[in-house]
Amino acid sequence: MLMAFLTCNSVANISCLRPSNQFTIPSSPFKPFKLPSFWPWQKVKMGPLSVSPMGFGTWAWGNQLLWGYQESMDSELQQVFNFAVENGINLFDTADSYGTGRLNGQSEKLLGKFIREFPGKKLEQSEIVIATKFAAYPWRLTPGQFVKACKASLDRLQIEQIGIGQLHWSTANYAPPQELALWGGLVAMYEKGLVQAVGVSNYGPKQLVKIHDYLKARGVPLCSAQVQFSLLSMGEEQMEIKKICDSLGIRLISYSPLGLGMLSGKYTPSNLPRGPRALLFKQILPGLEPLLSSLREIAESRRKTIPQVAINWCICKGTIPIPGIKTVKQVEENLGALGWRLSSTELLQLEDAAHESPQRMIQNIFQTK
Ligand SMILES: NC(=O)c1ccc[n+]([C@@H]2O[C@H](COP(=O)([O-])OP(=O)(O)OC[C@H]3O[C@@H](n4cnc5c(N)ncnc54)[C@H](OP(=O)(O)O)[C@@H]3O)[C@@H](O)[C@H]2O)c1
Repeated sequence: MLMAFLTCNSVANISCLRPSNQFTIPSSPFKPFKLPSFWPWQKVKMGPLSVSPMGFGTWAWGNQLLWGYQESMDSELQQVFNFAVENGINLFDTADSYGTGRLNGQSEKLLGKFIREFPGKKLEQSEIVIATKFAAYPWRLTPGQFVKACKASLDRLQIEQIGIGQLHWSTANYAPPQELALWGGLVAMYEKGLVQAVGVSNYGPKQLVKIHDYLKARGVPLCSAQVQFSLLSMGEEQMEIKKICDSLGIRLISYSPLGLGMLSGKYTPSNLPRGPRALLFKQILPGLEPLLSSLREIAESRRKTIPQVAINWCICKGTIPIPGIKTVKQVEENLGALGWRLSSTELLQLEDAAHESPQRMIQNIFQTK
């Protein structure tokens, strides 16, 4: 009897029940039972926080110039947010600089509104982690000004505490004296309890070690480092940053995991997105066929989609991807990147194909050494 129970419930059998949002098992004739996108134990520890293995990015929310945002999109964005949270996603990345022109701060404002109006479970609502970023504007010259920036974000978000307060970029490349104000600002917002944890973005390996050591000496743990990381952005520097993160206990958050949409498979040199992205895509897409066909081949054999495979690659590299999303369809599809893993052979196949591509993503101009 015991043997039969063990055989039916062995780890191997349990692993067959991989969570996927694509299967709905009718547990009774009345109510279908939907498997979760991922199991609770697959949540990731990030400093004092526990986050979903993938978050979502909200750069597009309020950005007319690059992403064609219109206020008429807000009701769908609210559905996007609700659907993501109801499916276990609790990490949302934003920034105080997101939103163009009069819409500056719109991404934070929308996130705050969507949290307040979330119609689902209170527990899900309370576990939402907002990771916002503070811009190193040239007029933010003292730690106090960063604390002020943090309070302004809290005000737009209408929440009491930010999950992760991140420096959007380092000024080490062009204004080294300002760097200490940034670092002091992070310490001050953490000590005042305005943020639960602190992180950085666009910090290269050297600068990352420096800020980590500075914060450690001030008793502040550095919980995350956000960099451009994808099959189109997997150079030596990214790998070195990953190694440093692992050795220092910092989580790597991979931004632009879909190469701004180029790794979604829906764009071709003759089908480009509207706006300035087209200029970049025109340069890169013509050489991307080996990578895209490799993504396609693996997607077909796995019964997944191209974006799901591209995002899963980031997860398999030990990072937390934060794909940008605008529609419920995109959220639904990207959730299918969770609950399974590419094999080591597939990872190698994708990386070999990526190396064959003559052009890579342009690195962020603020990325430091
Ligand atoms: N720290 C930094 O300096 C920094 C810099 C960049 C981004 N980020 C963060 O990282 C997040 C993600 O990066 P990203 O937005 O630059 O680029 P991304 O995640 O590589 O690409 C996102 C875009 O791809 C398309 N897309 C998403 N899912 C799709 C799907 N399933 N099928 C087809 N198309 C899909 C959407 O655009 P279309 O539908 O219009 O094609 C979406 O806006 C940002 O939102 C932001 O939070 C941070």
